[in-house]
Amino acid sequence: MRIGILTGGGDCPGLNAVIRAVVRKATGSGDEVVGFRDGWRGLLEDDAVPLDVAAVRGLLPRGGTVLGTSRTNPYALEGGPERVLGCLAAHGVDALVPVGGEDTLGVAARLAGSGVRVVGVPKTIDNDLDGTDYTFGFDTAVGVAMEAIDRLHTTGDSHHRTLVVEVMGRHAGWIALHAGMAGGANVVLVPERPFDVDAVVAHCLHRFESGYSPIVVVSEGARPADGGLVTSSGQTDAFGHVRLGGIGAALAAVLEERTGRESRAVVLGHVQRGGTPSAFDRVLATRFGLAAVDAVQAGLSGVMVALRGTDVVPVPIAEATARLKLVPLERYAEAEVFFG
Ligand code: F6P
Repeated sequence: MRIGILTGGGDCPGLNAVIRAVVRKATGSGDEVVGFRDGWRGLLEDDAVPLDVAAVRGLLPRGGTVLGTSRTNPYALEGGPERVLGCLAAHGVDALVPVGGEDTLGVAARLAGSGVRVVGVPKTIDNDLDGTDYTFGFDTAVGVAMEAIDRLHTTGDSHHRTLVVEVMGRHAGWIALHAGMAGGANVVLVPERPFDVDAVVAHCLHRFESGYSPIVVVSEGARPADGGLVTSSGQTDAFGHVRLGGIGAALAAVLEERTGRESRAVVLGHVQRGGTPSAFDRVLATRFGLAAVDAVQAGLSGVMVALRGTDVVPVPIAEATARLKLVPLERYAEAEVFFG
């Protein structure tokens, strides 16, 4: 049998570990693997590479994806799905393993509906894909953010400043929640729960009164309940600096004015996505790759592999694409105990 593999969407620590596991398991049982470069683009433009054991040597600790990635969606292009089907047939691909998030798996589900044998592997550092307890990449991203928060505590305390740490998470606050809890943040703000600026100011002032500086962790998608974050001077902050940027910068400017203490915003951005995966992510990504080959060899299709408790099992792809997995309020309440 010949198995195709591609990685789509934003990159994520552990993608290479999945590729390695798929190749090692498949070739070990006599199957062949062909990789398609840059997600669905590789299937649209017939950009393929044969993958054998030599090709995946040394991949386990490497960040990013050796196959490259893109956000190309064949269903958004005239004749796209037909080109994908033609390319799969030209390479004699019997089953496809797309590794990706909501968009990539959405394409996978539609292709499965057109008769292509598909077994998806879920991926996102945001951990917001439903159907699986965790996605690989999340643990690594949380570790990066936690280390940043640890470091920011000491510089914040030294300068008696508020440090606002903006982390990834457009729709869900998992990274903010876990990094904030692990790093001892004094406030954690997530998209699921529009925040009250007065309460954030009060928590920061309380922290200053205790002799320490506040750390505020904010998801990039978090927003104030009343919709606005403006200083009295408009674009400039209380100290006359021009503040530009996302929610972290806007919040830091307002906190500076409202607390009367200097503040700084730190945007961790793509640092959270790059670099070597944690041990947890290497193991999870490897188990996902092995389970994907098991599912292909068992003749399954329209499924993705998922972590349920401690087991990796096949579940319908639709479980991951129907809705996002958001932070439940009771999990947020755990972080709130430590606010202020
Ligand atoms: O993978 C999701 C994510 O990490 C989001 O949290 C973030 O908004 C997005 O990727 C940014 O990705 P890019 O810069 O690649 O568009």
